[in-house]
Amino acid sequence: MLEQLSVLSPDPILGLAAECRADPNPNKIDLTVGIYMDEAGVCPVFQAVRQAQEQLVADEITKAYLPAAGDAAYLSAMKSLVFGEVLAGDGANITAIQTPGGCGALRIASEVLAAAAPDATVWISNPTWPVHIPLMGSVGLKFKTYRYYDPVSHGVDFDGMASDLKGAKKGDVVLLHGCCHNPSGADLTLEQWGHIADMALTQGFTVLVDLAYQGMGTDLEADVAGLRLLANRLGELIVAASCSKNLGLYRERTGVALFFGRNAQVAEATHSHGLGAARRVYSMPPAHGALLAGRVLSDPTLRASWELELQEICARMIDLRTQLSAKLSEKTNQDFSFISKEKGMFSFLGLSVEQARGLRKERGLYMLDSSRINVAALNQQNMDIVIDAVASVL
Ligand SMILES: Cc1ncc(COP(=O)(O)O)c(C=O)c1O
Repeated sequence: MLEQLSVLSPDPILGLAAECRADPNPNKIDLTVGIYMDEAGVCPVFQAVRQAQEQLVADEITKAYLPAAGDAAYLSAMKSLVFGEVLAGDGANITAIQTPGGCGALRIASEVLAAAAPDATVWISNPTWPVHIPLMGSVGLKFKTYRYYDPVSHGVDFDGMASDLKGAKKGDVVLLHGCCHNPSGADLTLEQWGHIADMALTQGFTVLVDLAYQGMGTDLEADVAGLRLLANRLGELIVAASCSKNLGLYRERTGVALFFGRNAQVAEATHSHGLGAARRVYSMPPAHGALLAGRVLSDPTLRASWELELQEICARMIDLRTQLSAKLSEKTNQDFSFISKEKGMFSFLGLSVEQARGLRKERGLYMLDSSRINVAALNQQNMDIVIDAVASVL
């Protein structure tokens, strides 16, 4: 039977990272994969996570399954991290299901959405993270795109976005990136979030927020101001949150699907559907990352240490953006100031596919064909090399 299968083409991002690993060029630079790297080119473990891990290893007396919904302390900490103490109230209107990473959260959210509205169309930004369509499409959801990033102005085409979203109706889902839009780094202003809230109220669509970078754009609060505005005004919101980047728990697969409903009855129903979906897809979530995140978020000392380290990481990425935009503008006599206005790890450099591929072949500089780079993979050793290479094709 298996000989019927043909070989699939590799994942567009992971495939390029593999190509880079196999490249014998000693000067190669990988700006493809979305992980934060420090000055030494290492994706570090947060100090608070290390300490929580030591405590956990000393305390843990069982490896029995977690409940299907996940660890209670983690879930409660994530509810307040995302929605804030005020908004969460007693939290009875919010369902939280611990998931394997943000991907798992998107999958559980999609399963619940498909149960609520099997014919739902999901509106996704053009461009978006390339995994959204295969991941959410695997439960049978259909897609339409809305204009988002304007390569000419290097910013959000909000008029185009609002005009396209006029087609989103009751029973449809609009997928928004909570902050640090992947792949563009171009985020909505709070005023624009407010405009989306007006549209959702008038047209009746539901909003799903993919929140993979809370704390990595501006800070932990500002990065969720838009989604909190929506939750407040709409009374209904779905969030797929990830602890991969902001707690550095990538390989531990730690995420949460949050269903902010109008009341406790809605919460009970979404919870039952979320649990059913989890049981069908993977049964119980992995424990380690969530137990670490739960400790870090709820222990005041660990929390303070984590918040400080996250702020430093965020500040360093902003600094890398400032340097890259200034140096590239100077070297090329072109305006790259947009890089310093964008948020998070990603930006498009605005190169053609041929230029991006040429840099890979001639210089061992790896970026996506779209010229999307991971700014957090830059450091003082490779910054000037990257700038020289980019300037050479402009
Ligand atoms: C926009 C976006 N959503 C979701 C995820 C999923 O993250 P996780 O690794 O936690 O599954 C990512 C990871 O890169 C992402 O960039």
